[in-house]
This record gives sequence, structure tokens and C-alpha cells, in this order.
Amino acid sequence: MIGRLNHVAIAVPDLAAASEQYRAMLGAEVGPPEDVVEHGVTVVFITLLNTKIELLHPLGEASPIAAFLARQPAGGIHHICYEVDDIVAARDHLAASGARILGDGSPKIGAHGKPVLFLHPKDFTGTLIELEEA
Ligand code: CO
Repeated sequence: MIGRLNHVAIAVPDLAAASEQYRAMLGAEVGPPEDVVEHGVTVVFITLLNTKIELLHPLGEASPIAAFLARQPAGGIHHICYEVDDIVAARDHLAASGARILGDGSPKIGAHGKPVLFLHPKDFTGTLIELEEA
């Protein structure tokens, strides 16, 4: 069911510093910051040859990234995103298999303008998984 690795998301306490580190030290192609208000994040996408890195920084008081950084002030891997062909079919299959879908279970438009869902990390060996309809 899962397709390609779309991105790995890393929560960072300083978006400008992390962006500059990827640009200057690693020589990566780093995009501009984008606010995604409905997810409470500012994101920077870094394009690699085979996948992307998504730098996440809190936006607003209720950002889920603020709570993550409170636990891990230096930052850290927040989630990984797999592509699926049909997100509703994937959700129905996963729910029937016992996985918990976060939120109200309906796909939301993610940072790339495509439908996404998140799966409970306790059902996937401690890893928060995002599914994106490719
Ligand atoms: Co993501």
C-alpha cells in the first residue's frame, strides 16, 4: 500500500539557523519558510535527490510542535511521510486493521496542498506517520 518516502520532518527550535545549516554545511537546496496556519507550523522544505526534509517550527500558541520542542529543546525527528495512491482507501484499510487515525479521521490539506492523515505513533513503533495522497 505505501509508496515512496515523501519526506522526513524535523522539529527545529531555530528555523533560520537550521535552514542555513542545510544550505551552507550540507549544500542542500533549501526553500523559503511557509506558514501553514491550519497545522500550526512554519515549514521549510529541503529538496534532496530522492526525498525531502521538512523543517518544522511552531506557529501560534497551540502548535503541536511547541509541545514537541518543550520535550526535546534541541529538536528532533517529528514524523515521516509516506505516499499513498488513495488516502481514503488507505485510511479505511488501516482503521479496519486496528490503527488509530489522529484527529477526526478525515484527510486535511497538508503543506504541499495535498490530502494528508496522521497515524498514532503508539500503533507504529513510536513513530508518527503522515500519509500523503501522491
Ligand atoms: Co509532513
